[in-house]
Formats: sequence, structure tokens, C-alpha cells
Amino acid sequence: MENRIKTITSSAQSLIASANSLESINDVRVKFLGKNGELTAVLKSMRDVPVEQKPMIGKFVNEARDSITAMIEEKITFLTADAINTKLQSESIDITLSTKKTKKGGLHPCSLVVNEILNIFTSLGFQVKQGPEVETDFYNFQALNIPLDHPAREMQDTFYINDELLLRTHTSPVQARTMMNTQPPIRIVNPGKVYRPDDDATHSPMFQQIEGLVVDKNITMCDLKGILETFAKTLFNEKTKTRLRPSFFPFTEPSVEIDVTCAVCGGKGCRICKGTGWIEILGAGIVNPKVLDNCGIDSSIYSGFAFGCGIERITMIKYGVPDMRILFDNDVRFLKQFN
Ligand code: PHE
Repeated sequence: MENRIKTITSSAQSLIASANSLESINDVRVKFLGKNGELTAVLKSMRDVPVEQKPMIGKFVNEARDSITAMIEEKITFLTADAINTKLQSESIDITLSTKKTKKGGLHPCSLVVNEILNIFTSLGFQVKQGPEVETDFYNFQALNIPLDHPAREMQDTFYINDELLLRTHTSPVQARTMMNTQPPIRIVNPGKVYRPDDDATHSPMFQQIEGLVVDKNITMCDLKGILETFAKTLFNEKTKTRLRPSFFPFTEPSVEIDVTCAVCGGKGCRICKGTGWIEILGAGIVNPKVLDNCGIDSSIYSGFAFGCGIERITMIKYGVPDMRILFDNDVRFLKQFN
């Protein structure tokens, strides 16, 4: 009996050693430990062993079963790890291989300028408000003190959709809409697209504006000057100087145009500023009391200032772009310089 068990153990050992797959190791398990396995047969024949030998032989059989089981388990662990490694190796990718470069997109220079201007004003406590591009005549003109048949309408040539509707000519209607549903204090900036039938090197039928509005008690020209000077210095550079020139807008009284010293030549005079050293960037003024009253704000208590500028124009000045149409061509050789 002892010899039989020794033979079984050593034949199991060599079969386990040569098993090279999970299926073949399972076959080995069935062959020795299965229902009709060789060692199972030995266990079954224990009843024929003489009583006095039973403890010794029993111990021997149990040890053989434990050692075969342990060898099988060890081999299963090894084969499982081996299978994973083989799979990993066959699926590995050569990451040292060079690939085609993917071209990353970036923001249009005008969008960079819009974001920069919004950052400046939001850091000064302004809120961003937007409105529809298809506007009513009322919000675009009448609420802003430009009645029907007023000659000032000629300042902003207009794409009409019908007698009532038009493509907004400026972002000021967003200011009218805000004043009609908010009581002061109001501090907003309105970026967006606007439309006018002009088309040449410095005008486009669609362009972008940012306008701003502050309405509160005791707002004066000093507030306007202070805020817009800070704006110009932050957008261009610390050395930028501003000057106010009298102007006319129906929605502001008094009205001004604001020039800054040319960012390209620093005020000495160059091609960009046409030799004057100054560049006009903003229209602005103290909100006409009639506009406040039109929009439901009591002009005997509140006053305000408003301003507006063209984004393409500022982008051209900031980056020295000579022709506005370049901004709309979307030639990647031009655009990639900004990213
Ligand atoms: N809405 C004016 C324009 O588009 C700009 C402006 C805004 C001027 C606010 C003064 C005050 O030309």
C-alpha cells in the first residue's frame, strides 16, 4: 500500500510538472483526486486495511492528498499569471513609435479680446448680460431716444426685417432691456454681434461690440473717466493715456469719444494711428435722462454712464492687423499666430 501511494504521488508530481495549460492541470486533478481518481481509489480501499495499520496508512494517504492538492494549486496560480503575461505581451503597443501630429484649435483673436475685456469688467464688479440679435425697433431705437423718423437713425444704417423687426445695430438694446426689468444699482457689460450695411477695409456688415452701463445714485463723468481709464490701461498697458472729445449720441448727454495713446508707437505717431499718436476706441456718455425715464428708472434720483466699443477695431489696434477683412477670412496661417 505504501509503495502504491508513493508511485501515485511521484507520477502525479511529474504530470503536474509537465502540464502547460489550465485544461491539462484540471485533467491531472481529475486523474488523481476525482471521483474515480487513483488516490480516491486508495482512500476507498482503506476499509480493507487491517485495523492496526489503519492510522499509519491513513496518515500516509492524507499527506499524499494534501501534497498533490498543494502542487496542483501552485501550478494553477503559475499558469494563470503566465496566461495574463502572454496576453499583455501580445497586446502591447509600441509607444515609442512616432505618430502624426494632431493640430490643436484655438480661440479667434476677437474671442481672446472679448474674454480679456469681460475679465477686466467682471473684476470691477460688472455682470455680463446678453440679448437677441433680431431686435424690435423699440429696443434698438425708440427706448434709446431715437424716435421714428429721427435723423440720428442715419448714424446706424440698418438691416430691416420688416417695419417692426431688425438686426440690432448695436448692443445698447440689451441695456434698455436690463433697465426695464432691474432697478439700480446696475453695472453690466453686453458683448455680442451687431449688424450694419457697411463693407470695406475698416467696416464689416457683421461685427462685435461690447457695451457697458452703470446706473446708480450720483454717477458722474468722473466715474466714467475713472473706469474707462482703468480699462484702457489694463487692456493695452500702464503707460496708456486717454483723452475725451465731445461727441453726440442720442442716448447720452453729454457724449464723448475716447481716444487712447497708440499702443503701437506709444503716442509718437505711426502708420496705425495715422501719425497722430491717438486712436479712438470708445463712444460713451452720461445716460440721457430721457432714456432712464423711457426704461422705468426715475431720472430725478438716478444717473448713469454708458459706453460702447467695437471688438474688431480693438483687436486690430492690439495686434496691429491692417485690414478688418483678415479677421473674417479665417486663414489658419493668420489664426495660428494667436495660439
Ligand atoms: N451704441 C453706440 C454705437 O454703437 C456706442 C455707445 C454706447 C455710445 C453707449 C455711447 C454710449 O455706436
